[in-house]
Amino acid sequence: MTVIKKCLFPAAGYGTRFLPATKAMPKEMLPIVTKPLIQYGVEEAMEAGITDMAIVTGRGKRALEDHFDISYELEHQIAGSDKESLLSGTREVMEQCNFSYTRQVEMKGLGHAILVGGRLIGPEPFAVILADDYCVTESGDGVLTQMVKLYAQYQCSIVAIEEVPKDETYKYGVIEGTEEAEGIFRISNMVEKPAPEDAPSNLAIIGRYILTPDIFQIIEETPPGKNGEMQITDALLAQAKQGRVIGYKFRGRRFDCGSVAGFIDATNYTYQKEQEQAKE
Ligand code: G1P
Repeated sequence: MTVIKKCLFPAAGYGTRFLPATKAMPKEMLPIVTKPLIQYGVEEAMEAGITDMAIVTGRGKRALEDHFDISYELEHQIAGSDKESLLSGTREVMEQCNFSYTRQVEMKGLGHAILVGGRLIGPEPFAVILADDYCVTESGDGVLTQMVKLYAQYQCSIVAIEEVPKDETYKYGVIEGTEEAEGIFRISNMVEKPAPEDAPSNLAIIGRYILTPDIFQIIEETPPGKNGEMQITDALLAQAKQGRVIGYKFRGRRFDCGSVAGFIDATNYTYQKEQEQAKE
């Protein structure tokens, strides 16, 4: 059985919705309470048994690499103090995972970012996390763990989906498919960011994917789509037509931390959870 060992994190985007905060800082470093978004993503991947984190960065994204590196001066400074525990989670991540980085020099869409990241992946199935979709599960498996388990059964590309209000389809890739088992859709059509009247359903793709490696060739062969960019949605549709792609209605909750409102909701939710846990 093929296991998923690698996770790709496209993280080259500018995060313009968060200006001025993201002028000199990657949006993936925005913290939900005290932990940066990227670390939540990495921890979700670790929980799914993944140890190789491949991050596609861009200009101005050095902080991402520094975050998963030792900061000698800082660690010396807090050694022996009660602050030390605040870094223990990050240290654990660094000890247990391998990190590799590559740069996306031009912004030509998510499909392009994944193609660039392919250098760090090779010919094996892999996961993709878009860190600004922050996912939580109240109990049980994390979203990527659920998907990795499903991959073991289906051995094909899988996208996480959720129902969104019809007037918001323009923000997402939207799928159409037949429900083969509860929450598991065999995809027959998918459209990147359709207007509500053109949307084939209200089932939106969220930023969790498992992709089989033939996707790289398919991305290369797929013409540019929405906004003239290389869209992973279009490549996945081609893959669905050649074989099978699954849409999976995951258990859990997603916060759209690419928007200020979603980011604030995620912060409030997480802060409250942390307060409750501290009381226990
Ligand atoms: C990307 C994808 C889109 C997907 C979304 C999930 O869009 O292109 O299909 O629904 O992520 O967050 P972006 O949000 O990067 O514009």
